Amino acid sequence: MVVLSESSAAAVAATLPAVQAHGEAVTGRFYQRMFDAHPELLNIFNQGNQATGQQQAALAAAVVAYAEHLTGVSGLPWGPILDRIAHKHASLGITATQYPIVGRHLLAAVGEVLGDAVTPEVAAAWDEVYWLLACKLIAREARLYTIADVAEDGSVWRDWRVAERTRETVDVGSFDLVPADGGPVPTFTPGQYVSVAVDLDGGQRQQIRQYSLSGRPGADHWRITVKRVRGTAGAPDGIVSTHLHEQVAVDDTLRLSPPFGEVSAVGDGGPLLLVSAGIGLTPAMAALEHLAATEPERPVALVHADRTGAGHARRQELPRLQQRLPNLSVQLWYEDAADGELAGLKAEIAEGRVDPELIPLAPGVQVHLCGPVPFMAGVRGGLLRRGVPAERIAYEVFGPGMLRATRR
Ligand SMILES: Cc1cc2nc3c(=O)[nH]c(=O)nc-3n(C[C@H](O)[C@H](O)[C@H](O)COP(=O)(O)OP(=O)(O)OC[C@H]3O[C@@H](n4cnc5c(N)ncnc54)[C@H](O)[C@@H]3O)c2cc1C
Ligand code: HEM
Repeated sequence: MVVLSESSAAAVAATLPAVQAHGEAVTGRFYQRMFDAHPELLNIFNQGNQATGQQQAALAAAVVAYAEHLTGVSGLPWGPILDRIAHKHASLGITATQYPIVGRHLLAAVGEVLGDAVTPEVAAAWDEVYWLLACKLIAREARLYTIADVAEDGSVWRDWRVAERTRETVDVGSFDLVPADGGPVPTFTPGQYVSVAVDLDGGQRQQIRQYSLSGRPGADHWRITVKRVRGTAGAPDGIVSTHLHEQVAVDDTLRLSPPFGEVSAVGDGGPLLLVSAGIGLTPAMAALEHLAATEPERPVALVHADRTGAGHARRQELPRLQQRLPNLSVQLWYEDAADGELAGLKAEIAEGRVDPELIPLAPGVQVHLCGPVPFMAGVRGGLLRRGVPAERIAYEVFGPGMLRATRR
């Protein structure tokens, strides 16, 4: 157990309300300072999240929540949060040497925003909070690098060749990838993701995003399935998904990290329920492929929600999977629940309105959810009401949303 020194605990408790109130201003200032001093870090941070403020919220939330935890104000489950951050950091190749840079600029930003309130004692107390958290993350990340066979001071990046591209729907495409050097294809747990780094503007800048592996673990290639994000209401199109759809062809090379991700989509045996919405189907597809190859008799229910049947990517693979998995049941929900071959139950994904009462529940079921946060919150709430214990419900957020989801 980590304990903050008594004097620091008092200084942190006294300044927590001010830091909370100015959390976003502090991290906004922090990024500005850090990128001015270290423009090379722009290549590893997500510029889409910067523009929408999501990453600012994630970092502010993490540091403040950890201070609340250390001073006994909140009882958030820190184990899963640390795992989430460490896996994400490892997939980005974050190094221990980058922590002092982030720490220096974060604490300087607190001083700039809060002014005279930050006495030397207060600064030292927040420094202690930062480093207690940083040390835990550094240790977890070191362990993850060892397991993934990434050498100390080595790079996480490896070149992969696009062996095949499949157009799944108007806006979704799959990429089959093989190591460019012809080497072995590491296996993974269904639910794990890779980071993909792409060069933009003729190599002037790089952007990195995560994509869940959506094919069968142990196959001779990896598969990712990517939704092209279109800008709505004046927002720009998604940078990396648009680049992958428009610029990346068969035989092109992509830089990929090893697989990381702490959430398993197959649980540890017994009945399994996979609930997904939209592009959140990717971990579920890896899970179904894996079970068909390794545990074909396992009872599995797939519940998937999408806007329309025609927009439901990889729907055509389900009948074949049902042949290979005799105990697989499939329930489909569509916002536009048209008649005919592509019909489904009526869903309203954005508002989180699917009827969780209709979801089939086997005794002792383990659940994996993946989709927009409101959708997952709606389904999770319904499953909890129906008696599924919280620890049996795992979920994956396709963005920096873990803390918000945890607080719900
Ligand atoms: C663990 C994990 C697994 C994932 N798995 C998958 C997967 O299997 N398949 C998949 O398709 N995706 C997956 N994702 C999501 C993926 O990583 C990307 O977030 C997604 O492809 C969008 O990236 P982008 O670069 O295209 O969009 P970005 O450029 O990052 O834009 C994201 C959003 O921000 C908006 N935006 C950007 N700039 C501004 C601005 N200035 N003002 C207002 N709005 C703005 C854009 O309009 C867009 O809606 C996963 C994410 C995570 C974290
Ligand atoms: C104690 C220190 C740190 C904390 C508390 C922290 C916290 C976080 C959190 C909460 C996320 C979002 C995770 C998610 O839900 O997906 C994140 C992502 C990230 N972190 Fe850290 N971090 C720390 C240090 C660092 C360092 C040293 C670097 C390296 C420069 C770094 C770079 C990143 C990047 C690039 C992302 C992904 C950004 C994105 O996708 O927008 N972090 N971090």
